[in-house]
Amino acid sequence: MAATRLTINSNGSVRVEGDFEIVDKEGNVYGLDGRTTVSICRCGMSQNKPFCDGSHKGHFEHEAKAFDLPPRKA
Ligand code: FES
Repeated sequence: MAATRLTINSNGSVRVEGDFEIVDKEGNVYGLDGRTTVSICRCGMSQNKPFCDGSHKGHFEHEAKAFDLPPRKA
C-alpha cells in the first residue's frame, strides 16, 4: 500500500488514510488532532467542508468504480 490511500466511496466521501496533511489554498494546515483517517466531502453539501459530515446520504449518487485515465497529452 502507498503511504497515503484515498478511497472513493460510492455515493459519498473520499476517505483519506495514511501519512498526509491537508492544507488550504494558502498552505495553512488543517489541524487533525492526530487523526490518520479523515473523510473529505465530494458532494458539496457538508457544513464542515472540506470534511464530510454525512449530508450526502440520500442526496448524492456516484458509483465509484476504478478506471484508467487516458494517456497524458505531451
Ligand atoms: S460527501 Fe459526505 S457530506 Fe459531502
